[in-house]
Amino acid sequence: MYLTKEEEKMLEGENGEVPQRFMRLLVRLGEIYGAEKMIPVGSVQVAGVSYKSIEDPGLEFLEDIAAKGAKVKVLTYLNPAGMDMENWKEIGFPEEFAKNQIRIMEAFRKMGIVVTATCTPYLAGNLPRFGESIAWSESSAVSFSNSVIGARTNREGGPSALAAAICGVTPNYGLHLDENRKPQVVVDVNLDMKYNSDYGALGYHVGKLVKNKIPYFRGLKNPNTDHLKALGAAMAASGAVALYHAEGCTPEARDHELSGLDNIQVGKDEMRATFDKLNTGEIPDIVILGCPHASLREISVLADMLAGKTLNKPVWICTSRVMKEAADRMGFTETIESAGGRVVADTCMVVSPIEDMGFGTTGVNSGKAANYLPGFCNQKVVFNNVEELVRKCLQ
Ligand code: F3S
Repeated sequence: MYLTKEEEKMLEGENGEVPQRFMRLLVRLGEIYGAEKMIPVGSVQVAGVSYKSIEDPGLEFLEDIAAKGAKVKVLTYLNPAGMDMENWKEIGFPEEFAKNQIRIMEAFRKMGIVVTATCTPYLAGNLPRFGESIAWSESSAVSFSNSVIGARTNREGGPSALAAAICGVTPNYGLHLDENRKPQVVVDVNLDMKYNSDYGALGYHVGKLVKNKIPYFRGLKNPNTDHLKALGAAMAASGAVALYHAEGCTPEARDHELSGLDNIQVGKDEMRATFDKLNTGEIPDIVILGCPHASLREISVLADMLAGKTLNKPVWICTSRVMKEAADRMGFTETIESAGGRVVADTCMVVSPIEDMGFGTTGVNSGKAANYLPGFCNQKVVFNNVEELVRKCLQ
């Protein structure tokens, strides 16, 4: 593949051992996928942040490259960590886990990475523009940036994203190219959808059917960005959808030839069956909202529901530190915490060790969380809309 002089220098080790190692990885990746050249990336989001996922080998690797002077070249954010980095003790995260998580974050900080750990970087100061190439890892963030913003990213692994951050480039293949962004299957939605859980169930159902194809939705009635992030997250989890189009909603959903494409119809029967399938538990020990990380609007909805009330079991809403600070300023955090709930930053129900914190059944309104909680966290799941979930915690 063609490399610029600067890229060749990196490959030959003129910029040091770490950039050389990562440039080798990018070149290898480019060769595997037939990329002709590297392209600059506007920003990066690195996965593999929670100590629960990377454990000691990952921690030692990060500390090693940070000690060798690894530095990122572009704006780089992190995927959620394994705990709230400020209130971990109060919330009850295990001490030994916390020590290791803090070391991981310190290694990232040394590399110049913004230690805002979130799967919604686009809500927290890392917003790409339409058409911009980026290298993001977390599957819901990849889906949102490709589909709703119209930026361009493949679904990077932790190492390839870190490589893009340190070298400032990524191989030009896959979803960076126009020809790979066309719809491959049409999905007609014949439903009235109101809640994130409706979009999560739709995404779960469609992701299972289309796997890694690009769906083109027709019939979505004026979804907001929270609905679209719920839809994309679930499709990326049950399938491997990294890009979708939605007629009248997403920026690249125009001028496509749809005749001849496979067609999927989704109505009430499919939704009912999906809700049934995702419900594996009956009474939650805890309700955790904010998958993907909650927007300020989602936090405000929960605050309205809890104003002046008292919860009889824990309700958390997970979000980025940036959103939490806005929620603090608006008084939403105080309202939620006065009722006995929590606004938890930097982490989520899947990457934190909730199974070691005494919870066996978790209530969620996210199709993605419902997909992962049984396998990753040994949880039974109660899947429902936010109103029903919270109502049960107020009885
Ligand atoms: Fe984000 Fe965790 Fe869900 S990373 S998309 S909140 S599983």
